[in-house]
Amino acid sequence: MKLPKLIPAVLAAMSVAAAAPLLAAEGGDAAAGEKKKSMCAGCHGIPGYHTVFPEVYKVPKLGGQHPAYIVQALKAYKSGARDHASMRAIAASLSERDMADLAAYYGSSAAKAAAK
Ligand code: HEC
Repeated sequence: MKLPKLIPAVLAAMSVAAAAPLLAAEGGDAAAGEKKKSMCAGCHGIPGYHTVFPEVYKVPKLGGQHPAYIVQALKAYKSGARDHASMRAIAASLSERDMADLAAYYGSSAAKAAAK
């Protein structure tokens, strides 16, 4: 039976395919961003999720968004130029490095494929 030998090979090939787009990030470090996304995934990780605070609101999808747009949006929340209570509080806790890493992760094709 050849199957048990094939499974690790297929898994290895898949993980290489999944990791490759992460290396092609612009500016930030997508792998580092993936580790930081736990504080975002509660809202942005759920397809079609709606927040109930401060109002019922559709959470925009980040996966596949352009990294520069994500950084710009996060900076605008932090400065208050863009106003949304929960995103403002979250962006305020992020450094520029965090923003770049998260943007690189969400802008990567791996995040797009995961539809998050
Ligand atoms: C409490 C739920 C919640 C959490 C947690 C959260 N977000 Fe958001 N996020 C939202 C909502 C709701 C919006 C839409 C707000 C608006 O209309 O301006 C949003 C908007 C955004 C936008 C703008 C998207 C666009 O298309 O304009 C970005 C970028 C973003 N969030 C990034 C993040 C990142 C990065 C994290 C983690 C560090 C995070 N968010 C955590 C709820 C959340």
